[in-house]
Amino acid sequence: MKKIIILGSTGSIGTNALEVVRKSQDKFQVVGISGHRNYKLLIEQIEEFKPKYVSVGTDEGYEKIREKFPEIEVYLKDEGLKELASKDDYDILLTAVSGAIGIEATVEGIKRGKRIALANKETMVAAGPYINRLLKENPKAEIVPVDSEHSAIFQSMLGGAKKEVRKIIITASGGTFRGKTEEELRDVSVEQALKHPNWSMGKKITIDSSTLVNKGLEVIEAHELFGVDYDDIEVLVHPQSIIHSMVEFKDRAVIAQLGAPDMKLPIQYAFTYPCREESLAMEPLDFMKVSTLTFEKPDHKTFKGIQLAFKAGKIGKTMPAVLNAANEVAVELFLKGKIKFLTIYEIIEKAMERHIPLEIDGVELIKTVDRETREWVYSNYER
Ligand SMILES: NC(=O)c1ccc[n+]([C@@H]2O[C@H](COP(=O)([O-])OP(=O)(O)OC[C@H]3O[C@@H](n4cnc5c(N)ncnc54)[C@H](OP(=O)(O)O)[C@@H]3O)[C@@H](O)[C@H]2O)c1
Repeated sequence: MKKIIILGSTGSIGTNALEVVRKSQDKFQVVGISGHRNYKLLIEQIEEFKPKYVSVGTDEGYEKIREKFPEIEVYLKDEGLKELASKDDYDILLTAVSGAIGIEATVEGIKRGKRIALANKETMVAAGPYINRLLKENPKAEIVPVDSEHSAIFQSMLGGAKKEVRKIIITASGGTFRGKTEEELRDVSVEQALKHPNWSMGKKITIDSSTLVNKGLEVIEAHELFGVDYDDIEVLVHPQSIIHSMVEFKDRAVIAQLGAPDMKLPIQYAFTYPCREESLAMEPLDFMKVSTLTFEKPDHKTFKGIQLAFKAGKIGKTMPAVLNAANEVAVELFLKGKIKFLTIYEIIEKAMERHIPLEIDGVELIKTVDRETREWVYSNYER
């Protein structure tokens, strides 16, 4: 039985992961979970999964959980995530919190030689070079991606040697506003931006999908995870979200991974890799219902998220951390109704323009750059 800690168990990936565990017929045991504000759901999860360790983001949640479950070790806020990841008695750390808050816990998991089932793409974007260095220093640790595109690439990579890869093709649904013009995007509402055509996800990643910043973050994530040059990464819009991404090899063979748009598949794969286990949580893919698979080029002029990420990625150093932090705050301000949709691009562009990139020497520098960027965005755009 594999022992799992889920950071972000109250979110979209976290609840899907618990469903995988529920249907796994005792193949997995949840030893730790964390939530931030939603302590009521966290309490329900504690009752069902009986973890040894819990972390929560609010003082109220902390008091309630400690009172109700005196036998459990309860931790609080960012330090709590680190505490959970620092435990020794687990096998897999699923990082499913939203945003750069996941970096330090991921670092702790790697230092302890654990498998990181990585959903939290912001960690790889903001701290990729540092995480890769840590992986080299801790050869027992490994990352198995959970993001559906990176899981697909990871699985497709098994079809050849790394030196035989010609390019990676990341597919994109195109998001909520595919086909819209800049003029049409000017006054879109939060509610409109939150309606994703194929996936049911947390709010931050849903907005990121509608700006295509999510795809940009995935480009940087792919570069860091698979060591492929930016010039060998292509993004293709595939509105049906059935092909989750592909790898083209030198002989022009293209290997892809297909499946229904359901995160339970990549989550389970990250738990069972290198094996594949029977999945009771997943429906089979019905090709008769899919019938057509179509592809188109992304509209980079209107949706600047991908190009901004290529630019930040190619500059490297601390620039991707700036892109990530600026985007996180911009999305937060958009969700609060304080800025317009297109201002998200403006914020990222300006934050990158003013930043002088520095070589990443450790987590403290990333935290400093992250904090300074956030402060700059708040002071200039929060009204
Ligand atoms: N959803 C998807 O299908 C999907 C697909 C690919 C990759 N991902 C990635 O997976 C990660 C999670 O996405 P999601 O859609 O599951 O997000 P979500 O539904 O918003 O869930 C986020 C989780 O993180 C917790 N959290 C939020 N802020 C926190 C903080 N400051 N400190 C500690 N915990 C905090 C939330 O707790 P509360 O809810 O209790 O406040 C919740 O458990 C993101 O990095 C995303 O890019 C998601």
